Amino acid sequence: MNVLLVGSGGREHALAWKISQSPLLRRLVAAPGNPGIESLAECRPTSIEDVPGLVALAREISADLVVVGPEAALAAGLADALAEAGIPCFGPTRAAARLETSKAFTKAFAERHSLPTARHRTFDDVAAARAALDGFEPPYVLKASGLAAGKGVVIASTRAEAEAALGELFGGRFGAAGEQVVVEAFLHGGEASLFALTDGETVLPFGVAQDHKRLRDGDQGPNTGGMGAYAPVPALSPELAAQAFGRIVEPAVAGLAREGAPYRGVIFAGLMLTADGPQLIEFNARFGDPECQVLMLRLESDLLPYLQAAATGGLSNLPPPVWRPEAVVCVVLAAEGYPEAPSTGGVIEGADADFGPDVVVFHAGTRRGKGGALTAAGGRVLNVCARGATVAEARSRAYAALASIRLPGGQHRTDIGWRAETPSAVAPPPS
Ligand code: AMP
Ligand code: GLY
Repeated sequence: MNVLLVGSGGREHALAWKISQSPLLRRLVAAPGNPGIESLAECRPTSIEDVPGLVALAREISADLVVVGPEAALAAGLADALAEAGIPCFGPTRAAARLETSKAFTKAFAERHSLPTARHRTFDDVAAARAALDGFEPPYVLKASGLAAGKGVVIASTRAEAEAALGELFGGRFGAAGEQVVVEAFLHGGEASLFALTDGETVLPFGVAQDHKRLRDGDQGPNTGGMGAYAPVPALSPELAAQAFGRIVEPAVAGLAREGAPYRGVIFAGLMLTADGPQLIEFNARFGDPECQVLMLRLESDLLPYLQAAATGGLSNLPPPVWRPEAVVCVVLAAEGYPEAPSTGGVIEGADADFGPDVVVFHAGTRRGKGGALTAAGGRVLNVCARGATVAEARSRAYAALASIRLPGGQHRTDIGWRAETPSAVAPPPS
């Protein structure tokens, strides 16, 4: 198969790493790719939002499949344009991707299809939203409805903070993403990420992981795109995962099909594991980053047949994927100043070393200079991933590798996977 992979982060490096192991692969082209992906695929400089350029590239390489990593390409209508061109695409249409691109749509959709999720109201003006805070209790959860790179959610502990945050959200801090704001009840519990593949009809569970969204150890500091992930996740038992799959993911896929927007690709449910069972926090129309890196190291099966079947139909003919028994931990090395104002250009040393068969270092935001030097080119720079018999072993391998990589001012958490040993750290239900 000829495959075009769209994206340039650690998620796409992990996908390229796994796809390139497939005996079905003939040619892998990445747009735009990154210096890590370069050793696995031909990289072309086409931007992820240049829909005509990507369609032309898919045609040029006679792509049998286009695999879309990031949501921005889906929001730009890449899957729709590829469908028109008759090229199979792993990733939903713009209409189906509203599950991620519009929180207002998703909350109303969840209500229509009785998916368990936090009670909410959606507003398009600040005065009504402020008045409606009366119907909620602190902490207040306020969300810009549109795409805001994970930064459009405010958890305010007081009424005054919530009112100020509403002013900022409606005041254009997130541009058009803040034209509508969702106010919802705060859910208590631990978070987990649940993945499923679907061709629009068949829905196949495709792994779980737990992300670490806060910048600093102990889940402190500002929210980020994710500072690390691990699997398996003791807090999300197979029983709870099956419950979330049956009550949230399957009805969502069926609901979209009934509403005329059938979903193809991967559906990522962000869950809160509450005392009343798993509740939906949000859907994403793509693999999680850095969760995908963990899934790819754990996946034993060939990935390509699954991606192809989700894109073209026939997922019901494939067996459930086989996972390796080992645990995987992924630690993110971020640039100085991340997430607010990451500084780029720092020279990275030691990332290209051979760390043995159980460690893989994915590039998330790097650039290769003319002299071959690798520099930081994004907020999240590298993803150091390791397998081990237990989460503890995988973690110590990942941190041992990270210790020999240098990035001036680089930041990382030292406790990725801590909840694996203390699932009871999940907060108790509100009294
Ligand atoms: P979202 O972009 O909707 O996933 O929200 C980002 C983060 O905010 C989530 O990963 C949670 O940590 C937190 N969050 C969102 N909604 C809620 C909620 N209703 N209750 C508690 N925390 C939430
Ligand atoms: N790591 C969370 C996300 O990809 O949205």
